[in-house]
Amino acid sequence: MNAHPVPAPGDRRRFPMYTEAFAADPHAAYRWLRDKYGALVPVELDPGLNATLVVDHAMAVRILNDPAFPADPRQWQRSVPADCPILPMVGYRENALRSAGREHARYRASNVDALSGVALHEMERTVRRAARQAISSFCARGEADFLHEFAKPVVLNSISATAGAPKPLADRIGTTMKAVFEGGSDAERANTLLMAALQDLIDLKRAQPGDGLVTRLIQHKSALTDPELAQQLVTVFGAGYEPTTNTIANTELRIQTSTRVMDGVSSGALSIREALDEGLYNDPPMANYCLSYPPRPVVLDHQVLLAHQPVVISLAACNNDPALGNPDQRLGNRAHLAFSAGPHTCPAADMSMIIAQAALEEVTEALPDMRLAISPDQVRWRPGPFHRALAALPVSFTPTAPLTN
Ligand code: HEM
Repeated sequence: MNAHPVPAPGDRRRFPMYTEAFAADPHAAYRWLRDKYGALVPVELDPGLNATLVVDHAMAVRILNDPAFPADPRQWQRSVPADCPILPMVGYRENALRSAGREHARYRASNVDALSGVALHEMERTVRRAARQAISSFCARGEADFLHEFAKPVVLNSISATAGAPKPLADRIGTTMKAVFEGGSDAERANTLLMAALQDLIDLKRAQPGDGLVTRLIQHKSALTDPELAQQLVTVFGAGYEPTTNTIANTELRIQTSTRVMDGVSSGALSIREALDEGLYNDPPMANYCLSYPPRPVVLDHQVLLAHQPVVISLAACNNDPALGNPDQRLGNRAHLAFSAGPHTCPAADMSMIIAQAALEEVTEALPDMRLAISPDQVRWRPGPFHRALAALPVSFTPTAPLTN
């Protein structure tokens, strides 16, 4: 067998995933990497931080379901400087996302049970109200930044309401979470501030329980400690805010830049839900994630994956694997990996789709002639190895009077 180690220490040909160039056109990079390396690509998540990126759909599904690839990063983390900017995104946390086996099962059950108490019809009403409030705040101007003035506040207000977080606390959580996702020199400090804000929320809910998601987590039979509770909330808010916001903004961009999607949505031939599914398939908001760390070397595709080295699934590249067939024939097909697969599959896929769909339906109905206010080649994406996130989304439309809520 022609087995050679991936990653190879000191390998200079690793593909850097943190650059502006990668953020500007990741799909060209995925195609090129697949041609050059095949299923397993040697990459750098941050300068000097090596990983293997999986770009083959079948192999990704196998890895995501294989206990030989646990999500617990503790052993690997010993070799990483404490101030590594992406550590808040990938380092160990006492939560479902970063644990394996029985530890994972306990955390996962707490999350799933707390999320299952969310009344989805009520949540939809909250989203529609938040959407109409956001639209009313800018509609008289005839222009807006769709990302910052619509998608962000709608998601923030909807998830915070579900969690039972009052606005000032929700704002603190949202701002610090964004900096954690961004990585960079602020990430460690942002993480400290985030954990303080989450502890304040736990203290508040212990004093005044109510019946929101945070209270259900506190009261769960798994009896999570305060640090464990705060770490579950990192995933609930982190996964809740960022990818849901980016799903809404990226789908709006898709509607604005594809005549087929725009005509379909305007005529009703394509539902918002179908446009969302297409976006999740072609360009998922968590583009590269689902990290695992095999405790022993694993031979895959004639290559050796070294023990305790991160394996990252490119959900974006795998969804666009040519082996899956013609992308134009995927309408209505939800077999994408945008929500991952296996034991760590997103437990809130339905909830996030209700938020995204209701938000987009409200804005499409209220501002039917909304158009991109810049040319498509001026659209900027935020760098970062993990997310597919716009820097801004300027739009224009006929000025209208504020909506009645
Ligand atoms: C469009 C929006 C969303 C997308 C694309 C998304 C995607 C994902 C993905 C890919 C994972 C697996 C990550 C990994 O294994 O490293 C995940 C896990 C998770 N997500 Fe979501 N998510 C979304 C919205 C949400 C929302 C709204 C919530 C909660 C309010 C949420 C809660 C979670 C939790 C708790 C996990 C960890 C599950 C586990 O490890 O067992 N997600 N999500």
